[in-house]
Amino acid sequence: MLWNNIETKPFGFYPTGWDVNVLDLLGEQEWDGDAYAGQTVFEAAPPGERVLGWQPDEADWSYPNIGEDEPTGTAAEVSYIPEKPHSMMWMYYLQRICNHCTYPACVAACPREAIYKRPEDGIVLVDQTRCRGYQECLTACPYKKTSFNLETRVSEKCIACFPKVEQGLQTQCTTSCIGKLRLTNFLSTPEQADPRRPADFLVHVKKIALPLYPQLGLEPNVYYIPPVHVPQEYLTQMFGPGVPAAVETYLNAKEDEELLGLLMLFGATERIISTFDVKAGVARGYDEDGHELVAVPLREPTFVRKLEFATLLAGEPATGYRHNT
Ligand code: SF4
Ligand code: F3S
Repeated sequence: MLWNNIETKPFGFYPTGWDVNVLDLLGEQEWDGDAYAGQTVFEAAPPGERVLGWQPDEADWSYPNIGEDEPTGTAAEVSYIPEKPHSMMWMYYLQRICNHCTYPACVAACPREAIYKRPEDGIVLVDQTRCRGYQECLTACPYKKTSFNLETRVSEKCIACFPKVEQGLQTQCTTSCIGKLRLTNFLSTPEQADPRRPADFLVHVKKIALPLYPQLGLEPNVYYIPPVHVPQEYLTQMFGPGVPAAVETYLNAKEDEELLGLLMLFGATERIISTFDVKAGVARGYDEDGHELVAVPLREPTFVRKLEFATLLAGEPATGYRHNT
């Protein structure tokens, strides 16, 4: 729960106030169109510190489900929301793990150099034999994704399931997500973006997956497809100025076979998909060597059973349809 929590926005946060506190500390900042023109948590650091941060109290870890399922306000108008007062309200779930940031504040802040970012895959890990429990990592991480273990007196954090990733497997939160809404993948730099690679396609080509609080300056590597029913002012302060275009792209996904196909490959295999394509109504994922890992049809085939078949088995006259036969 500490490493991998789900909170309900807008009222949920774990630890309490993690995001509003850091935004408050940073103060009002500006975007210049798509480019951030304000200060990051590194630039706004007080004298003698590397990062602008704060330390949660013990009580802040005591309410993991604060604000859970609490809706608010009026949802943005999308076609499938029925026109009834309570269903016009909004809330959404924010899935949070360590972002394995490109510029990790936890690494910058640790005086023991006990946290490091692996060059081979970007995973950020705590070396618990070096950690002396200074907790500067926790103060610095604006996402509050290192946790101090009161028993062992050292920090711990999401390890991005590195033993699985090393075997070419997606992380466990991805493969056990029954909603099939997560994907573990590798992202190229914008200049090296390859549209055949799933993360590059979502982040660089379609720009449908956006980073969480990009204005903080860590370049977080967990990307979110923003919800479509939430007021865009709220989403923009959370995911940046790409929100309106991302929402529009998502709403049009049913007309975009390539995007739809890739979304259907989420949760379709435990292997990390290196490249994908969508041809003749089938989305396919391939490994590094180009071998097919999985194939998913865009439209599930439908079979209609004859009524006689069901009634024959049950030994009953044909009086109606039985779902369970
Ligand atoms: Fe470090 Fe926090 Fe970024 Fe994770 S989310 S890499 S703990 S700064
Ligand atoms: Fe460093 Fe955090 Fe441990 S600051 S010493 S990794 S508690």
